[in-house]
Amino acid sequence: MATSSCSKAEDEAEFDLSKALKYWQSTDKTWNEDELRSLELGQALYRKNCAACHGKKGSGDNTIGAPSLVNNSIIKGDISYHLTLVKNGKGQMPAFSKVLTDDEILSVVAFERNAWGNHDYSVFNQTDE
Ligand code: HEC
Repeated sequence: MATSSCSKAEDEAEFDLSKALKYWQSTDKTWNEDELRSLELGQALYRKNCAACHGKKGSGDNTIGAPSLVNNSIIKGDISYHLTLVKNGKGQMPAFSKVLTDDEILSVVAFERNAWGNHDYSVFNQTDE
């Protein structure tokens, strides 16, 4: 089968609630459907826009100087700094403010803050800007 490498966008449209519930399940947090949709969207966007540099598992890439996002102080730190960094870029990291909408950036940041052993359950509490 000839599959184009840029056909990933369609995956974002698919949402399986019970699968998402199982995937993001946590003993300390009950996600609501909107939050689960956002985390799933964030994961799809991460794979499409970020994984090439930071790795599918967030482990980074030394050859291009993309830091590991596992156990990362920015991801564990202040969310507004994290959001601004993704919007504006930094050094070799491209800006995403013209590539992704604010909601998409929030989703990808929410994903990062809850992937790879990170647990920031407050991520959706501060959406009014
Ligand atoms: C072209 C490669 C590249 C892409 C694509 C990329 N990044 Fe980065 N990212 C970098 C580099 C390089 C840095 C280090 C920037 C610096 O401090 O100079 C970085 C830094 C970061 C940091 C801060 C980590 C730290 O310890 O400094 C976060 C968070 C981050 N990126 C998230 C993302 C997200 C989310 C996406 C996708 C929306 C993304 N990146 C896409 C290369 C990339």
